[in-house]
Amino acid sequence: MENHVKKYIMDCDPGHDDAVALILAAKHLDLLGVTTVSGNQTLDKVTTNALKILEVIGRTDIPVYQGSENPWIQKLETAPQFHGESGLDGPRVPAPTTKPQSMHAVNFIVETVNKHQQLSLIATGPLTNLASALQMDHTISERIEEIFIMGGSLTYGNWTPAAEFNIYVDPEAAYKVFNSGVPIRLCGLNLTRQAFVNEKDLKVLEDINNPVSLFCRDLLDFFISSGGRKAPFKGAVLHDVCAVAWAIDPTLIKAVDMHVQVELQGKFTRGMTVCDYRHTGDQDPKTDVNHDPILPPRGESPNCTVGLELDVERFFKLLYGTIESYQ
Ligand code: RIB
Ligand code: CA
Repeated sequence: MENHVKKYIMDCDPGHDDAVALILAAKHLDLLGVTTVSGNQTLDKVTTNALKILEVIGRTDIPVYQGSENPWIQKLETAPQFHGESGLDGPRVPAPTTKPQSMHAVNFIVETVNKHQQLSLIATGPLTNLASALQMDHTISERIEEIFIMGGSLTYGNWTPAAEFNIYVDPEAAYKVFNSGVPIRLCGLNLTRQAFVNEKDLKVLEDINNPVSLFCRDLLDFFISSGGRKAPFKGAVLHDVCAVAWAIDPTLIKAVDMHVQVELQGKFTRGMTVCDYRHTGDQDPKTDVNHDPILPPRGESPNCTVGLELDVERFFKLLYGTIESYQ
């Protein structure tokens, strides 16, 4: 009898915040595999980075599967200005001694979902692999427990005024995932911007003083500098870590169910997550700036649980406690 402990696949494009998210996930979740997707950098680079991260934390038992090299339709856009030419600039880490598995990530996702009950996915990059898996075997949409997505935004974007990077890179794939019927827990920028780190966090990591904390310190030192802001706004956002933290501790994030659609046609809004906040229950108009007392006609039924508020203190307690537990 298969034990029904929750199992996960993490699909990512490391990426500095993906790296910290993977470090957190590897300690708390039963990760059956890591799949890589082009995004922050090209597929070969993000795959090398995934192998490097697992080696740094001593978890080369977790297999890595290489996925999609390009988005479904549009030309790949990467983010070297924030993650560097390697996609993981900052720490000096030797080339990995391990290799990715021979199976393609999409085949691994389909095969693993069909083999396991209670399998959830965590997606911290563009959704190309997940959408391709749904395309390959549409029945997996009834088997996947839920998908934790870092992507989109209830408010404004980061890559364009309307769109967040992960959704923007492959909006057609995102559209497929958001319309698949699989329960989604969405960590949009409105939530993840609360996971803000700056130079004081570098000191916390230095004081923990183990190989993983010093690796994270060098990661965040680069990531903070690449943000380009001046003090007091100089810092970085641990976007992807929020999706993993939510899977570990559902009480960390206050959320509401709502319908979210992905814009594909808009000249200025392509890749935007259009969030229908109108039907999110009886929020207190005094505290909820989005509240509108006019009850509009019923919109589409919710397809996402959208994160609104992060318990920042407990989030960082979990993160730094986990990093400290790596010896
Ligand atoms: O917009 C933030 C997202 O884009 C994060 O996943 C970050 O790693 C980049 O991929
Ligand atoms: Ca990412």
